[in-house]
Amino acid sequence: MTRATDPAARPTLSTTPSPRPRALRPDFVWGASTSSYQIEGAAREDGRGESVWDLFCRQPGRIQNGDTGDVACDHYHRYREDVALLRNLGVGAYRFSIAWPRVLPSGRGSPNEAGLAFYDRLVDSLLSAGIEPWVCLYHWDLPQTLQEAGGWANRDCASWFADYARVVASRLGDRVKRFATFNEPSVFTLFGYAFGWHPPAVDDAASHHAAIHHVNLAHGMAIDVLRDYVIGASLGAIHNMQPARPVQATPEDRAAAKMLDCYWNRAFADPQMRGAYPDAIASRMAPFCRDGDLERIHRPVDWLGINHYSPVYARADSAARLGFAWSDAPADAPRSPIGWQIDPAAFRDVLLDACDRYGLPIYVTENGAGAVELADASGAIDDRERIAYLAAYLEALEEATVLGADVRGYFVWSLLDNFEWGAGYANRFGIVRVDFATQARTPKASARWYAARIASHRAKATA
Ligand code: FCB
Repeated sequence: MTRATDPAARPTLSTTPSPRPRALRPDFVWGASTSSYQIEGAAREDGRGESVWDLFCRQPGRIQNGDTGDVACDHYHRYREDVALLRNLGVGAYRFSIAWPRVLPSGRGSPNEAGLAFYDRLVDSLLSAGIEPWVCLYHWDLPQTLQEAGGWANRDCASWFADYARVVASRLGDRVKRFATFNEPSVFTLFGYAFGWHPPAVDDAASHHAAIHHVNLAHGMAIDVLRDYVIGASLGAIHNMQPARPVQATPEDRAAAKMLDCYWNRAFADPQMRGAYPDAIASRMAPFCRDGDLERIHRPVDWLGINHYSPVYARADSAARLGFAWSDAPADAPRSPIGWQIDPAAFRDVLLDACDRYGLPIYVTENGAGAVELADASGAIDDRERIAYLAAYLEALEEATVLGADVRGYFVWSLLDNFEWGAGYANRFGIVRVDFATQARTPKASARWYAARIASHRAKATA
């Protein structure tokens, strides 16, 4: 395969939409992604327990505008309408997450039948619409009772997660075959345990390194459970992967970018898929790593899920405990309306590098563009900037495929405008608009564009 790191080998990227697909596999999976806390709402219904995000959102100043996920997109009640939206898009797959506190309100112990029944209904309605459910077990909503018992800093959390995986697998595994363990573990551990920006709002190096290791252990233990309980399972892990760049080309900033790369891109993927922590952080992980742990973490998986939006930047800071400080992208970088850098070539390189490094089939499990959008009087949104972003990133995905990356699917983030963590409802990522006052759903221009893109690929694949 052509080396991703050889810029001369890479063709110049066009930012104009490709008129028709040319490189994707005939069975390429087209999908859309969401997550439980960001869309479900019904936070206190049918026996759901509290998650760390429920508590965090109630703390003054944490979330823009004081927003919470209490109601979100009310998907818990409107899932049929949302499945119909998916069917109209023509996607073959839908990636969603299970809310751990909805199925095990205290995190452990007796399952909540009403919570499991909701996911039964959702899965059944997807299957009857001809859409394959892709289930992610953990998209950041840890049961609050488990946080009170130490959360991911407590090694026992790995076994609690494996027990939770058993509950989900034994209930849904007759119909769901695609499972992922965690969504973006580096984000929730860095933001939650090292920088205090997400729950549990801890800022402590030892807790952070403990959390990394225990999440890795939980991943390996859950993979074993899923293999045992789901006949014909296709299992993966979902990692955010983005180039970690020095903000200036100084040796100090380069060293900082290497440390950011370790924590952001490799602290989970390397032990899970190569059996070792990156050298630069191995001594920091050692106090938490017991004999046999790396074997328990390094279990065979079938695919790698990659979430990608923009590159990340680091700068040196002698006071920075982890060896890097965050930096903004350079001032002249092209940006989306919410300020995230647009760099499709970085996406292509990430796909090529991940393919080289991990040797697994890749599914892009999240990619999309955020905006602060106002609808016209009819509720319509002509989101041309999002369409340009999606077109350029899909073009980059095709370039990566032509250069040898084994990319088998793409899930747009997101089906719906939703609760965007610290930004609340201000940043909209949906290809379908949600009016949060009425819960009306209106497909944006990008939804029509995406549906046409899928249809043209299918037409070509079956011609
Ligand atoms: C990712 C998260 C997802 C969403 C997008 C915009 O990091 O996995 O929940 O917030 O960013």
